[in-house]
Amino acid sequence: MPDWAEQPAVARITDYLTGGSDHFAADRRLAEQLGQVAPWLPQILMINRLYGQRAVEYMAGTLGIAQFMDLGCGMPYNSSACPSKPLHAYDAASFVCTPRVVYVDNDPVVRGHANMALTELTGTAAVGTDVRQVSRLLGDKAVMSVIDISRPVAVLCHDLLCWMTDEDASNLVGNLHDRLPPGSAISVSHATTDTAPEVMGELAGLYAEHGIVFRPRSRDHIGQILGPWTPVAPGLVTPAQWPTPPDHAFPGADQSHAYAAVALHRPAGSAPAARSSSRSWISSLLRRRRSRPESEASPIQPFAEPGFVSSATAARWVAR
Ligand SMILES: C[S@@+](CC[C@H](N)C(=O)[O-])C[C@H]1O[C@@H](n2cnc3c(N)ncnc32)[C@H](O)[C@@H]1O
Repeated sequence: MPDWAEQPAVARITDYLTGGSDHFAADRRLAEQLGQVAPWLPQILMINRLYGQRAVEYMAGTLGIAQFMDLGCGMPYNSSACPSKPLHAYDAASFVCTPRVVYVDNDPVVRGHANMALTELTGTAAVGTDVRQVSRLLGDKAVMSVIDISRPVAVLCHDLLCWMTDEDASNLVGNLHDRLPPGSAISVSHATTDTAPEVMGELAGLYAEHGIVFRPRSRDHIGQILGPWTPVAPGLVTPAQWPTPPDHAFPGADQSHAYAAVALHRPAGSAPAARSSSRSWISSLLRRRRSRPESEASPIQPFAEPGFVSSATAARWVAR
């Protein structure tokens, strides 16, 4: 077994906690310890993925961006094998446009899975690199063959920045703003210390024992990291509340232990970001989905996994 497989890794721990099958013994051991400290971990990971899907739909549908870079993409769920799980970025965007998509992650297992998910899709690439090196990332041949950085790009940083030091997280977000054109957007979801500071401290301690930096942050601090990017309505809120507070009984939806926002790269001196009606873009997206022929219908199905949400509850979520 290679050395790296004996070190627990965040992507594979996440996969284990969300019912996947791509993890090693070291990942499972640490995941079990984490789960004992924070039994709600599987649920917030799923809330985060559902946020990610809604954010992509918004960026493609309302902002009209068709180029996506999913940084720290993690293991994409296989839409055909796991129809009840949230869609990965390509699948979510493809309901709205013909997206060009790059998945980036520094975990070799993730890279393999990202390759599997994208290989047959034109205008895509899976790249294994450290996203903190923005110049290298944007200069990467595979990235350049898919993404035209002279046109707006949607960047996803979902559950990514909390795995970096303050300096690295700020530099990454700031450098992306410097290098991408106005009209681009960033979507961030980020663990917080605001709601369960002691538990988050214990989790950070467990990760640190394995050399993994885990930095949940306060809402203010996450806002500072977003820096030059301008959040669209409703701003930086819990992932379950974006873009609107849930009107379903998602257990613990108010306890996402995280914040999320979509933020814009506005041209200097431009007016504040338009406060688009979240309800209206969701309605228009649902109308588009309903009007698609049966064979192309969305593979998203209500959750049925125990511990997440009942199918009746999820059906209300889908229909809201
Ligand atoms: C918790 S997972 C999140 C996965 C997915 N974005 C989601 O929202 O579920 C964090 C991912 O970021 C990746 N990652 C962390 N630091 C990274 C870095 N510096 N460069 C590239 N990938 C990184 C990890 O390998 C992991 O797949």
